[in-house]
Amino acid sequence: MPRTLVKDALNATAPHDAILLQGWVRTRRDAKAFSFIELNDGSCLKGLQVIVDASLPDYAHITKANTGASVEVHGKLVESKGGGQKWEIVAEKFTVLGEADATYPLQKKGHTLEFLREIAHLRPRSNLFGAVFRVRSRLAYAVHQFFQERSFHYVHTPIITASDAEGAGNMFRVTTLDLAKLPKTEQGEIDSAQDFFGKKTFLTVSGQLEGEIFATALSNIYTFGPTFRAENSHTSRHAAEFWMIEPEMAFCDLQGDMNLAEAFVKYLIRDAKEHCAADLEFFSKFVDKELLARLDFVLEKPFVRCSYTEAVEILTKCGKTWEHPVAWGANLQAEHERYLTEEHFKCPVTVYNYPRAIKAFYMRVTDGCAPDRQTVAAMDLLVPGIGEIIGGSQREERLDLLKEGMALHHLDEKAYWWYLDLRRYGSVPHAGFGLGFERMLMFVTGVANIRDVIPFARTPGTAEF
Ligand code: 4AD
Ligand code: MG
Repeated sequence: MPRTLVKDALNATAPHDAILLQGWVRTRRDAKAFSFIELNDGSCLKGLQVIVDASLPDYAHITKANTGASVEVHGKLVESKGGGQKWEIVAEKFTVLGEADATYPLQKKGHTLEFLREIAHLRPRSNLFGAVFRVRSRLAYAVHQFFQERSFHYVHTPIITASDAEGAGNMFRVTTLDLAKLPKTEQGEIDSAQDFFGKKTFLTVSGQLEGEIFATALSNIYTFGPTFRAENSHTSRHAAEFWMIEPEMAFCDLQGDMNLAEAFVKYLIRDAKEHCAADLEFFSKFVDKELLARLDFVLEKPFVRCSYTEAVEILTKCGKTWEHPVAWGANLQAEHERYLTEEHFKCPVTVYNYPRAIKAFYMRVTDGCAPDRQTVAAMDLLVPGIGEIIGGSQREERLDLLKEGMALHHLDEKAYWWYLDLRRYGSVPHAGFGLGFERMLMFVTGVANIRDVIPFARTPGTAEF
């Protein structure tokens, strides 16, 4: 007999005479003549109530069906007489497949998120993490749907790379050299020519540069994969391994880029509301009471757009004292970003046209800006509660200005020869952005820590599981 998922059983439109369910016991309650079991199989938030009559031949096994045990039930799907659920199962055959004793850590009581992080191998069986990872799965699907519907091609950019896409240097080294016996050159430096790839290699920080190669051939592309940053940031929004979605569009400018970013974020929220309604309701009850209202609000209004120069003006004139001083030319810090989106505009804000010196080498120099106030066509999308969830820009398509940007950032042109070639042969205006998938999930679920929206968090000092 094929298995029925709890989700499908709960959505049944008619009773059923013969049904097979498999899952894990959440709770068991024994009465004189029967036991109630709440069975959950992760297909949805809710469990299904199973009634096991004491007259069943296997009833003696019921004492083994403790919280956490895996069970299999053959029985009938009948209309429930009790309140709270439409359907329940009357068991005809009941089997405990895998026992769980009283040491099972997820007994029916509230646990702290910190504790659940320590048992990341079991936390997907909790209500909260079941919901988080169902939303994560659904939104990964929606990412593809959004781009495929718009004729963007999915490109698989490499995870091991020799180039630093952000030019910021915080990359994880990949090597097969014997660390206890490193080969040295005559100058006494590590001889990377003897390494696996014959040169220094790293885990990628972004697929953008390779994405640009494909955008200048297939027009509209996107990447969606893991990225790695060796930043020693101990915050609730930084992970050393996270997933990023990076669209790249040829024949597109910063306006088009900001439009796509806004449409994309709204699409994902709408999709989650439509396909993960029960899970979102759970978050709004137990994680963040304002979640649903905030998501609706974000969907309804156009995002505010504000230039970096205007943002600096707002921040200097608002009368607040900042931990990090605000001045034209300095990077916006989390406190500034959160003030703009949470207190000043009270909605998502796209800040654009940043000072050239604080942004990546590949960003396009804004035409007509004063030499001492050079800006680049960069944009960051900031949302309440999190701050930056998207970073993007129009790319510098002019060879001479790109070379100038590289020199400004002390990058070696030789290492980027193929990237420069894109400007030598059929160069076009193009733009793109990166959405941090985990940050988007934090926004959609209200979950406040990035460690709780990724199955196995990689942060400084932690790589268990
Ligand atoms: O702003 P970032 O560094 O931009 C880039 O990597 C560009 N190459 C993107 C592009 O234009 N194609 O990163 C983009 C987004 C951030 O806005 C943030 O959401 C996320 O990636 N992100 C992180 N998420 C979790 N942990 C980290 N350490 C992150 N660093 C960036
Ligand atoms: Mg950024």
